[in-house]
Amino acid sequence: SKGAALVTAVAQRLASQKQKVDETLSLFRLSYQQLQVVKARMRAGMEAGLRREGRSELKMLPSFVYNSPDGTEHGKYLAFDLRGTNFKALLVNFKNGLQKAELYNKIYTIPPEMMQGPGAELFDHIAECVSDFLDYMGIKNLGLPAGFIFPFPCKQTAIDAGTLVCWTKGFKTTDCEGHDVVKMLQEAIKRRKEFELDITALVNDTVGTMMSCAYEDPQCEVGLIVGAGSNVCYMEELRNIETEQRDGNEEGGTDGAKTTGVAEVERMCINTEWGGLGEAGSLDDIITPSDVEVDQNSVNPEKQRFEKLTSGMYLGEVVRHTLLDLTRQGLLFRGRVTDALKTPGIIQTKYLSQIERDRLALLQVRSILQRLGLDSTCDDSIIVKEVCGAVSHRAAQLCGAGISAVIDKIRENRGLDHFDVTVGVEGKLYKLHPHFSRVLQETVRVLSPQCRVTFLPSEEGRMKGAALITAGVRQMKM
Ligand code: GLC
Repeated sequence: SKGAALVTAVAQRLASQKQKVDETLSLFRLSYQQLQVVKARMRAGMEAGLRREGRSELKMLPSFVYNSPDGTEHGKYLAFDLRGTNFKALLVNFKNGLQKAELYNKIYTIPPEMMQGPGAELFDHIAECVSDFLDYMGIKNLGLPAGFIFPFPCKQTAIDAGTLVCWTKGFKTTDCEGHDVVKMLQEAIKRRKEFELDITALVNDTVGTMMSCAYEDPQCEVGLIVGAGSNVCYMEELRNIETEQRDGNEEGGTDGAKTTGVAEVERMCINTEWGGLGEAGSLDDIITPSDVEVDQNSVNPEKQRFEKLTSGMYLGEVVRHTLLDLTRQGLLFRGRVTDALKTPGIIQTKYLSQIERDRLALLQVRSILQRLGLDSTCDDSIIVKEVCGAVSHRAAQLCGAGISAVIDKIRENRGLDHFDVTVGVEGKLYKLHPHFSRVLQETVRVLSPQCRVTFLPSEEGRMKGAALITAGVRQMKM
């Protein structure tokens, strides 16, 4: 009969539609073999980055941090942290370490236009925030030592000096790349003719995170950030860091033994800048058309390819481009490409976290999409949820493959068959996403069977870590 034919036709259409959606999403699904390959490439990038000659996708930047905090930290220290849209200031009063320390902090806004304007303006603004904080705390003339968290790739020549290699995470402030960021901040403070600031340590956010977690757990030798950006640091054997083998090269002044006052320094924390993996094409075989769109529409095309697959700043955009693709194929939103869907940044990563919550009813997914201006049917919201899941699952697996490369390197460095290690973690994607941390941990377990890994979430620890580093440097110098 006619009716039956119609039902069959509709069923067939739905089945073929589902198949087409699956085809698109299958591009995001990585096999065990592919993850092994990513792990191997991450490892190769690490090795290449540690060598003096040749180029590498991973910058493997020396941090000039050699030791874990030892609990003898005493006195008042400052820490400053330039984040994307804000700047955070912290005063710590250590009383034999962190346990009974007193902490005071304040958050300032960074106007978005400063992410693109002239460097001097950005640093003048930071100096103003510093000035306000010192006034607020009544410590302007104490000349307290400060740690400066600058969460971008800096080529350090000492614990308190480093030039910005390149901006990442959407910043494109001018006249900063190639300049020493500690000097830039000091000059901005000088321009105010008001107070002096002793910047004792320049610290990457991963390194701050690792140090604060190492305070709680001495087995913590890796620091992971999966927030707006994605990056890792870890403890490497000094003998493997060719770029830091001195052979008479005294430039930079502070070599290991001098900084720490310890006779045999064996290891240094390396900021891998793993977000750069793929810049020379090593991820081309897993990159999807949506990833290409995200990259091409970013402020740093061709750069930070791994970061663009794994961090909060980009996942929403990967989802949006995939939804656009499905809509153009007529598989979603009745084939209508609306202005909302064309708006960059409309799907923030926090919505991914909400949409993917396990027991969230489809009606709630629909209402989230509705609020974003994306009118959806029930079928649409099922597909959107699947897309979000595919994108974030891949991100977690890729981070897992990366961590697995890092910890197996540390294990092999030490000639161990079995290695217990703790990874200090910070970042909203890790903390707030309903599945990210579990998938990441499972991936590490499968890819690094000889390691037992504990993930230690850090509660805003990076600044405490920077203060601990500052105290460490100070107390050794004195
Ligand atoms: C970007 C930066 C890196 C930082 C990470 C996490 O990848 O290049 O330095 O650690 O974001 O904030």
